[in-house]
Amino acid sequence: MNTQEIIRVEHLVVAFGSFKAVNDISFTVRRGEIFGFLGANGAGKTTTIRTLCGILNATSGQVWVDGHNVAHDTAVLKPHMGYMSQKFTLYPDLTVRENIDFAGSLHNMSRQRIEQRAKLLFDFIGMDQLPRGPVRSLSGGVKQMIALAAAILHDPEIIFLDEPTAGTSPQTRRTFWRLIERLAQKGKTVFVTTHYMDEAENCHRIVLMEKGKILALDTPQGLKKDYFPHGIFELTFKQPLQRQTAAEIKRLGLGNASAFADTLRLSTPEPEGFKRFAMQHADVFDYAAVSATLEDVFLKAVSGANAAKTGGAL
Ligand SMILES: Nc1ncnc2c1ncn2[C@@H]1O[C@H](COP(=O)(O)OP(=O)(O)OP(=O)(O)O)[C@@H](O)[C@H]1O
Ligand SMILES: [Mg+2]
Repeated sequence: MNTQEIIRVEHLVVAFGSFKAVNDISFTVRRGEIFGFLGANGAGKTTTIRTLCGILNATSGQVWVDGHNVAHDTAVLKPHMGYMSQKFTLYPDLTVRENIDFAGSLHNMSRQRIEQRAKLLFDFIGMDQLPRGPVRSLSGGVKQMIALAAAILHDPEIIFLDEPTAGTSPQTRRTFWRLIERLAQKGKTVFVTTHYMDEAENCHRIVLMEKGKILALDTPQGLKKDYFPHGIFELTFKQPLQRQTAAEIKRLGLGNASAFADTLRLSTPEPEGFKRFAMQHADVFDYAAVSATLEDVFLKAVSGANAAKTGGAL
């Protein structure tokens, strides 16, 4: 991957009235990188993307894309950027063909160029025959595919995808990510938001965002190592877990545990003590050391940020 920087964000603040949806964030994105933004609803992901695309103005701070200041050079940057917005952006009454033609006309593409690009993209997606009816009659996954094709029809260098796979089938998601990886291999920069933790694993680097702030930025592996240096131990119980068991683990100083149904996941600096506990506890069915997931990281990062605000562990 190229290490050359293509996006630079410095102390970006985007406020709606007195509310700061994006609250002083800074980061850089490299050319050819798949850069993920992860965060709960309302974290500020879409607001960030829209500011990077020049659709929203920064309240303060700076955004540079490919050496241009977005606030001043939006027109220069437009041909180099593709944006697939979170809300469905195709015209539901038009056919796929008409939507694609319209997307091409927005970028002053010739008929021949539109044909050439559309063929390439639809071949990749696996659609040799374009659906004939209005877009509104298509399934959610097909619509999202077509919205992506429309967003990158003009072959932009930087592609912003805001929850492109929301509500689509696992098969569609796989096709999407194959396409994203192909784009990155060709040197395109892909900036993507998602709520799916398994998808985030495909990103080269990830930002964890919460309430307008960046909590962490690293590779998926780096985040896991940083937040769970001792890995994770997982205990399965014979019956749904009792609250006091988690409390007991905490009291023994074995670490902080998160419980779900009959399973307890725990990051501990003291694996031997934990194994002893597991072997002695009559209700334990099984225990094993497992890898931390990005979901573990995300939950820990968010609860850590909240604990810092409320002045104690939750
Ligand atoms: N135009 C606006 N006017 C006022 N508040 C807004 C506006 N746009 C967004 N917000 C608020 O800013 C915050 C961040 O919104 P944003 O859409 O960026 O979050 P998000 O991380 O994309 O969330 P989601 O995962 O739900 O898409 C939210 O509290 C939202 O209500
Ligand atoms: Mg959003």
